[in-house]
Amino acid sequence: MLNVAIECAISSGKFLLQNIDKINSIEEKSGEIRNLVTDIDKKSEEIIVKKIKEHFPSHNIIAEEGSSGNNSSDTKWIIDPIDGTTNYLHSLPLFSVSIGIEKNGEIILGVIYEPSRDELFVAEKNCGAKLNGKKISVSKQNQLIRSLLVTGFPYNINENPKNCIQHFNNFLFEAQAVRRLGSAALDLCYVACGRFEGFWEVQLKPWDVAAGKLIVEESGGKISDFDGNNYSIYDESILATNGLVHNDMISVLQKGK
Ligand code: IPD
Ligand code: CA
Ligand code: CA
Repeated sequence: MLNVAIECAISSGKFLLQNIDKINSIEEKSGEIRNLVTDIDKKSEEIIVKKIKEHFPSHNIIAEEGSSGNNSSDTKWIIDPIDGTTNYLHSLPLFSVSIGIEKNGEIILGVIYEPSRDELFVAEKNCGAKLNGKKISVSKQNQLIRSLLVTGFPYNINENPKNCIQHFNNFLFEAQAVRRLGSAALDLCYVACGRFEGFWEVQLKPWDVAAGKLIVEESGGKISDFDGNNYSIYDESILATNGLVHNDMISVLQKGK
């Protein structure tokens, strides 16, 4: 499964890079003006799903653009064919392909590929996480004021009361700096390899976080919801950190909405 997941992520990632200025169609999803899907998102998903079905026809699949598999299987591939579509359609080279595998309700494998930087993040349950074959770990910074943080916002920011803007403001005063990259999967990978100390966001989908959750955990990081409770990829809020600034970040999150 690991080899197939890596093969899928790299081949669809290379396809994304080759087609970055060749988008033919852009559609709004669920009538939201900011929530877009291109023909390239759909083709990237096709490349991945075709390969999975060739190798594992009995497995389940959930993928952002609607592909599905055998839902009675205990093994589920969770796929985001482009994480960072808004960046992609502006030719901003910050996007990724994310593939997580859940078995009996537990994520056992995570692969995220960032084609622009040719960076492949891989984690296997209980075996650690690697970036381009080298073991990675979270940063050792334990002071929030010296921490670089990252976040994202929901597409329906105008009408969504949980838009995270207050959290963003609060962290600007408590951290070294705050970034918004536009790919939750990469945000998680960058926490895992120590580029960021922490990441928080609300209302993400399982395909945004399935692979990244395992990559952070296997790098020694910590993941919870905003109250510090156990986090599942189907939950409302995610906080992922190097572990050392986790409690301080929870305290700041408790001050906002
Ligand atoms: C989005 C990205 C972004 C996050 C959004 C996601 P998409 O995924 O991960 O960073 O802020 O909430 O929906 O739509 O580019 O696959
Ligand atoms: Ca996504
Ligand atoms: Ca996507």
